[in-house]
Amino acid sequence: MPPLVRTPVPTPTPTEQAAQATVSDPLPFERPPAPPAAASAPDQAPAEVKLGPTGRPMIDIPEPGPVRSTGHARVISMCNQKGGVGKTTTTINLGAALAEYGRKVLLVDFDPQGSLSVGLGLNPHEMDLTIYNLLMQRDVTVDDVIVPSGVPGMDLLPSNIDLSAAEVQLVHEVAREQTLQRVLAPAVERYDVILIDCQPSLGLLTVNALTASDGVIVPLECEYFALRGVALLKTTIDKVRERLNPKLEIDGVLGTMFDGRTLHSREVMDRLVQAWGDKVFHTVIRRTVKFSDATVAGEPITSYASSSTGADHYRMLAKEVLARCLDG
Ligand SMILES: Nc1ncnc2c1ncn2[C@@H]1O[C@H](COP(=O)(O)OP(=O)(O)O)[C@@H](O)[C@H]1O
Ligand SMILES: [Mg+2]
Repeated sequence: MPPLVRTPVPTPTPTEQAAQATVSDPLPFERPPAPPAAASAPDQAPAEVKLGPTGRPMIDIPEPGPVRSTGHARVISMCNQKGGVGKTTTTINLGAALAEYGRKVLLVDFDPQGSLSVGLGLNPHEMDLTIYNLLMQRDVTVDDVIVPSGVPGMDLLPSNIDLSAAEVQLVHEVAREQTLQRVLAPAVERYDVILIDCQPSLGLLTVNALTASDGVIVPLECEYFALRGVALLKTTIDKVRERLNPKLEIDGVLGTMFDGRTLHSREVMDRLVQAWGDKVFHTVIRRTVKFSDATVAGEPITSYASSSTGADHYRMLAKEVLARCLDG
């Protein structure tokens, strides 16, 4: 039997019996040598269930509804203590795709490495004020620090290496875990979505991000070792929910750097679905060098290579996020 014919991963959805469905999705899966006549005849009665890249039946993601009045942003952290899994890339490109759909977006660079700011074309040495000033100086307001991102409808709270000092200084503050939540509060009223790009650790900055958030998106590289450490991340999220922020939800788990040609990527996807069930986004981000090129250009992929598959996948993710936790 060719390796591709997978047993579908059990999910709580009622579509389980769709078992031996054919694989069909926007990503380049190798298909098993299908019987030639199986090519979809549109008038065949029982609808053929198509499996998406996550191995589950693909859903129809609705087109985003009309933009509602800006009022109360959903705050979402991109969180994974592992570096290089696509947190910053997802923050920039999901933000840009949501802005394309008319949402007013604020990105928060909450990593002292400042990759999000650099990825949007800012020079770390030429920033007047950064999120560090906002956290540590009472006379600095969020409006003093917000800068345009270059993408219409999307703004940025930039950061640079100064933020690493905040982690140490915050330890002595009263309500140290709530500092980001407190300084972001005025912005929550003016945006539809606020995306926080977390640093690769589960330290005090990340706990601040989770405390300020309504939801978490966990980007995970489709590699085996990416699954290690996920239990610790889950525990941290649970602790923040219990002790600091009861409303915190896991909005979704996102497979990144997926290579549909390798059995390896697909097996990792299966494992992700086993562990996280329907929390796993149907959208999966494929591996492509276009992302690094876009970073060098200081732009999101949605403008740098607007018609690339990478841009399309982030638009699809934006639709899925809107349907799952913003428009619902
Ligand atoms: N889907 C992808 N395909 C190929 N390269 C990617 C992809 N997503 C991110 N990258 C690249 O991988 C590196 C790490 O991504 P990044 O988003 O900075 O991860 P993190 O913020 O989790 O450390 C960057 O150089 C980025 O351009
Ligand atoms: Mg990063």
